Amino acid sequence: MRQIVKLKVNGLEKEVAVEVYQTLLEVIREEFKLFGAREGCGIGMCGACTVLADGKPISSCLMLASLAEGKDLVTIEGLADGGTLHPIQQAFIDENAFQCSYCTPGFILTTKTLLEENPAPSAEEVRAYLAGNLCRCGSYVKIQQAVLNAAARLRGAAVR
Ligand code: FES
Ligand code: FES
Repeated sequence: MRQIVKLKVNGLEKEVAVEVYQTLLEVIREEFKLFGAREGCGIGMCGACTVLADGKPISSCLMLASLAEGKDLVTIEGLADGGTLHPIQQAFIDENAFQCSYCTPGFILTTKTLLEENPAPSAEEVRAYLAGNLCRCGSYVKIQQAVLNAAARLRGAAVR
């Protein structure tokens, strides 16, 4: 059974017809044609499907699309300011913090919330906060460095 829901993704509001069982991840990819959020595990364990809902990271593979109505949703595609990458995105590039990059959108979005809550995290706090995001390529050391780099940028501190 399909139902009409109005979703707001990266500032764009759109009415879409969704099956009652469809996940937010499926609808973001199939209806909004935004492919940065990916399916990894499909059971809330890997973070590859992370999007922000009202500023907080969620696993979009676990949320029914119909329950996302009224939320302000942001995907990795919504982070850049026109042609200028978000400082966290730039930090990931500068630190070569990915290999295949399948996990990268999820890491970056979770990092955004981390740095809003804690602008100067320790390496240990970075690891703890990002524990729900997995990288099958094992780029964890570079990712940690990118998060610390991004934190410094956002604080206006010099980046090495
Ligand atoms: S695909 Fe959603 S947490 Fe892994
Ligand atoms: S860079 Fe490949 S899964 Fe993280």
